[in-house]
Amino acid sequence: MTDTFDGFQLQSTIDVSGTLRLELVELTVSDPAPDEVIVRVEASPINPSDLAVMLGAATAPADLDTLNLTGSQDRPIVLAKVSPESMGALSARIGIGITPGAEGAGLVVAAGRNARHFLGRRVSMRGGGMYAQYRKLRMFDCVALPDDLDVSSGAAMFINPLTALGFVETMRTEGFSGLVHLAAASNLGQMLNRLCIADDIPLINVVRSTEQARLLLDQGARYVLDSLSPDYESELREALYETGITLAFDPIGGGSQASQVLAAMEAAATRDVSTYNRYGSEVFKQLYIYGLLNPSPTVLDRWVGFAWSIGGWLLTHRLQRFGKDGEARMLERVRNELTTTFASHYTARLGLRDVLNPDIIRAYSRKATGEKFLVTPQD
Ligand SMILES: NC(=O)c1ccc[n+]([C@@H]2O[C@H](COP(=O)([O-])OP(=O)(O)OC[C@H]3O[C@@H](n4cnc5c(N)ncnc54)[C@H](OP(=O)(O)O)[C@@H]3O)[C@@H](O)[C@H]2O)c1
Repeated sequence: MTDTFDGFQLQSTIDVSGTLRLELVELTVSDPAPDEVIVRVEASPINPSDLAVMLGAATAPADLDTLNLTGSQDRPIVLAKVSPESMGALSARIGIGITPGAEGAGLVVAAGRNARHFLGRRVSMRGGGMYAQYRKLRMFDCVALPDDLDVSSGAAMFINPLTALGFVETMRTEGFSGLVHLAAASNLGQMLNRLCIADDIPLINVVRSTEQARLLLDQGARYVLDSLSPDYESELREALYETGITLAFDPIGGGSQASQVLAAMEAAATRDVSTYNRYGSEVFKQLYIYGLLNPSPTVLDRWVGFAWSIGGWLLTHRLQRFGKDGEARMLERVRNELTTTFASHYTARLGLRDVLNPDIIRAYSRKATGEKFLVTPQD
């Protein structure tokens, strides 16, 4: 007899008139293929990339001032308007229902022939569509969690932990010896800070408030700079001179912070040079933009010399380069350090209906420091 699991999943759709619709839709999951499992989803974080999918796109989000709650208490529906200028960026998803939630954790309730060893185990998983009560997915996208681990600790095993490790791997494989990190008080930034302390890797954290600076200093950070301080640029040049760091990771993207970092690296690299070179230093400087926290254009002041590069950095692309063995090694480390180096802390647990509450939507859309939300679809 085939086991069938019924429940709800959250769905985000944008229609041709520019209306975003968030709602709960019914879900039936059954018949796992030989290599598949069915997981009862218990926890899934709201990461900035999930928000982007849920509300439109990172560069084209719906206008939260237009949020409108309709439907019933049991089956709420939230509508919002997407501006006509944003619709071009969204054309590929018009009319397509998307369930957000890139990663999560839950209990394996059914398993195909080759995946029986997962049955009854609590797993961490990736593959999207986690804001749902059940999820069918490949066993290769699951990692069995230690029996005594709280499910919320296993909910965010992939995106931010692998990204922090991926930055360090990129640093090593590309021949750098330390890194600058912008918006460094984020959930990911705090993991990177703990990782660099543990592995003795020079890290310059850049934040945008004294509270964020205190947070990282209290967690043992050596260098924390506040980009809003009047002395920021000189402090950055000094820290770069001291450490010799020439690699930076920037999740902000828009504005001139990337340019400031490259210019400060160039200034640090030329400080001790006695002969003038009108092309600047020969020290190569690399900055990777890996997020869209500020979707406005990236502004580059051209006086950064000629030995520099700005590139994009995406975890999924990098994992392909690190290869299966590299990824397995990283996942093993994450699994062993889920409650320490790679721990996430959550502001609130949200059942699927809570995720559709307009006040709560505005709260989790802030992406504010220390405010990470956990979707718990069974609540
Ligand atoms: N490329 C990839 O593969 C990849 C993988 C993982 C994560 N990411 C990206 O990494 C970033 C951090 O993710 P997370 O889960 O750690 O986020 P998070 O915990 O929600 O933190 C977001 C942080 O960004 C800051 N911030 C927001 N808007 C900003 C702006 N315009 N300028 C400067 N700082 C700003 C916030 O500070 P305030 O409190 O001051 O607002 C907060 O500290 C996101 O952009 C995410 O998309 C990318």
